[in-house]
Amino acid sequence: MSITLMRTPISQRWCFLFVLLSMVEFSIGKLFFHPFNVTYDHRSLIINGRRRMLISAGIHYPRATPEMWPALIAKAKEGGAEVIETYTFWNGHEPIKGEYNFEGRYDLVKFAKLVGSSGLYFFLRIGPYVCAEWNFGGFPVWLRDIPGIEFRTNNAPFKEEMQRFVTKIVKLMRDEMLFSWQGGPIIMLQIENEYGDVESSYGKKGREYVKWAANMAVRLGAGVPWVMCKQNDAPDFIINTCNGYYCDGFKPNSNKKPIFWTEDWDGWYTTWGGRLPHRPVEDLAFAVARFFQRGGSFQNYYMYFGGTNFGRTAGGPFYITSYDYDAPIDEYGLLSEPKWGHLKDLHAAIKLCEDSLVAVDSPHYVKLGPMQEAHVYHKQGNGRSSFSESGDGSRCSAFLANIDQHNVALVHFRGQTYKLPPWSVSILPDCQKVAYNTAKVGAQTSIKRLDDDTPHLSNTPVVQQLSRQEKASLVSESWMTLDEPVGLWSANNFTAQGILEHLNVTKDSSDYLWYFTRINISDEDVSFWKDNRTHPALTIDSMRDVVYIFVNGKLAGSKVGHWVRVVQPINLLEGYNDVALLSLTVGLQNYGANLEKDGGGFRGQIKLTGLKNGDMDLSKLSWTYQVGLKGEMQEIYTLDGHEKAAWVDLTTNGTKIPLSWYKTYFNAPDGLDPVALDLRSMGKGLAWVNGHHIGRYWTLLSPQDGCKQSCDYRGTYDSSKCTTNCGNPTQVRYHVPRSWLQESDNLLVVFEETGGNPFEISLTTHYAQNICAQISESHYPPLSRWLNHGSVDGQVSINDTTPEMHLHCEDGYIISVVFASYGTPIGICQKYSKGSCHAPKSSKVISRLCEGRQTCSIRVSNADLGGDPCRGVVKTLAVEAKCVSSRVAGFSSF
Ligand code: GAL
Repeated sequence: MSITLMRTPISQRWCFLFVLLSMVEFSIGKLFFHPFNVTYDHRSLIINGRRRMLISAGIHYPRATPEMWPALIAKAKEGGAEVIETYTFWNGHEPIKGEYNFEGRYDLVKFAKLVGSSGLYFFLRIGPYVCAEWNFGGFPVWLRDIPGIEFRTNNAPFKEEMQRFVTKIVKLMRDEMLFSWQGGPIIMLQIENEYGDVESSYGKKGREYVKWAANMAVRLGAGVPWVMCKQNDAPDFIINTCNGYYCDGFKPNSNKKPIFWTEDWDGWYTTWGGRLPHRPVEDLAFAVARFFQRGGSFQNYYMYFGGTNFGRTAGGPFYITSYDYDAPIDEYGLLSEPKWGHLKDLHAAIKLCEDSLVAVDSPHYVKLGPMQEAHVYHKQGNGRSSFSESGDGSRCSAFLANIDQHNVALVHFRGQTYKLPPWSVSILPDCQKVAYNTAKVGAQTSIKRLDDDTPHLSNTPVVQQLSRQEKASLVSESWMTLDEPVGLWSANNFTAQGILEHLNVTKDSSDYLWYFTRINISDEDVSFWKDNRTHPALTIDSMRDVVYIFVNGKLAGSKVGHWVRVVQPINLLEGYNDVALLSLTVGLQNYGANLEKDGGGFRGQIKLTGLKNGDMDLSKLSWTYQVGLKGEMQEIYTLDGHEKAAWVDLTTNGTKIPLSWYKTYFNAPDGLDPVALDLRSMGKGLAWVNGHHIGRYWTLLSPQDGCKQSCDYRGTYDSSKCTTNCGNPTQVRYHVPRSWLQESDNLLVVFEETGGNPFEISLTTHYAQNICAQISESHYPPLSRWLNHGSVDGQVSINDTTPEMHLHCEDGYIISVVFASYGTPIGICQKYSKGSCHAPKSSKVISRLCEGRQTCSIRVSNADLGGDPCRGVVKTLAVEAKCVSSRVAGFSSF
């Protein structure tokens, strides 16, 4: 557009200019950044001409509520993330073919804009296959019904649908001005997801599909780099990236591509009946430091916040409703310490090295010992680098690693001696002073719940603990109930010959599908069983995920499993008998090749065995099908729907009736702390609060064995290494987001399959109750001091090396000190006592600094803590405090 102002009078020209300027301002007001371009070279992403070392935080928008998003993004930013990463969730966005949903928890545009307005970049992994322990790996179930479709291969119907969705997302992002070159936050996109894992199952068509997907993606003209994770045959114009617990040995398939880690598994997911996995932060920090040490430049935590699989979004089979993931921010949005804090320090340390890291093409390798090595990033003074911010000054940063799992190592580096703890990396932003060591945790540790048996990181030299407790109270003393009919309940059922595949019938509109038939039993058979004292059995060749077997309206038995054989002895009467099988899916398959063929329900034959004259093949009979539960289809869990059902008062305590609905009203707990329902008194089912589906619940116990009291961070991690919660139900608490609650009269509706006691359902609130910290006088100084100190000649440096202890309570809480000792305190959090050496004035100093505040910092030195209580001994400061509500305490936090 060219504008000519010359022939208009001056006053009009001013006016026009004013309008034009305000238009520009208006459109700039909508931008999050000055438009910038993103490219890459073999070293890193290049943002506006500058190479960057980037820390990214995985947060899946539908696993939280929009009300939670701002705080989650802010906590990620405070923790040192510069990028937020998410998948897109196709089945959430297009639940019915051609009908899109970008509202509420699926408001991707709002989420992206929040990321941008927080000053963070956005990495959007479109997939659209995402795995992610998400129902059907993100695929809409209607995709299975497209004639001739085969997922994730060179198949025309599939490619057409995939292209349509990917195009839709890219266009939406472009229309909303969300790409970097438009002033938006998006710097990178992903197509497909870990296809390399399954590619060989598809042969030549698989290889063709990779090329097609890559070409299709880049042709969309999004204008930012695309990645494919775990895709060794990614074409030249796509960056192939690493996913895993460690990615420091990863090499992309071309020396023109940078080393990216798209999924750093900082914890793991779990199944109903599984143990809870924990990844020690010392090992996680070690993995991240090693990655940057050995040339990596982009690292994304999978997950930084895991969140919750609300409704029926959990994948499977059998993934639980919580997707906490042992992530740095827990399921409720609270900081999970020490993970969050120790990683925050790590990110600050890496940041201090960024200028040196980007300035050189590859590090200088120095062997320090048999299992010790240094990587030095040294930019020479006159070696001007266009990638480094500090102009032509000399810059040196180094990483010293001890990969020995057992022993401390003393190493010599550039004329100095360094003591490296086992399985650790020390980061030296100036090639001299240690700013950070991955094994020395200086942040608070959390025991999220006292009954959770979370491992105490007792091998950590500096242990800080924070216990998080919940206050529980019964939801209600008065409940109403309603029976769910066994078998057919509406005219919508239909009859067909033989056994139909579960998903073909339900289309996943419900977990539940009734299979109903009637069989005729002769008097001969009945006498045969009587005479031989035997029973007939109903056998199913193969079944997933759960089946309840009802005979003549009574529950005969049930089975749980993934394509398992079922043999259920039953009682039959002479004449006609009703057989009703309630088949359930518990999260559709989200991983593996040929997902479209997986399905649910039954495979093979269903037979009646143990008859006098051989087996009866029930698979050939005619069966009547009924999709879903009556209460579910009538939506008796909604604010409108529940009034239409014929509820009756529930009087029996400890009721144990299968297939029952329960409802009650409750008041929200006071305050703003996150809320959960404790459903340990129940069996298995679904729960809704004010019509919001909070997810599946199941009180299945995890195995008695295989858990650890304490967890040794040293050595290679896998998800079975540090598990907890043995012998307990895998999940008992279910997050009810605050925004779904009103002050009083909240409607809770529960559908229970096996029997449970609703009178014992309770509400819990979550907050950090106790905080403990322990830091020795030889700990490294706070990272903030390096950052504040600035640089001398382009080289960061630091003179004051006194360590500092930081304590913080969550918003609305303030510190009340219960124990403090500088000297040789003994014990662990909540069991501290003074040792033989104790500085008498230290408790007073700490109270003065911390009491009544939300956060405080304490310098750990003789001078700061009232003098040296015992010469020649390395002293430690240990503090324990309670976080008390600032309202109750009558303080306002300051
Ligand atoms: C990866 C996958 C993710 C997620 C993860 C396990 O292989 O790409 O989507 O499923 O495993 O949490």
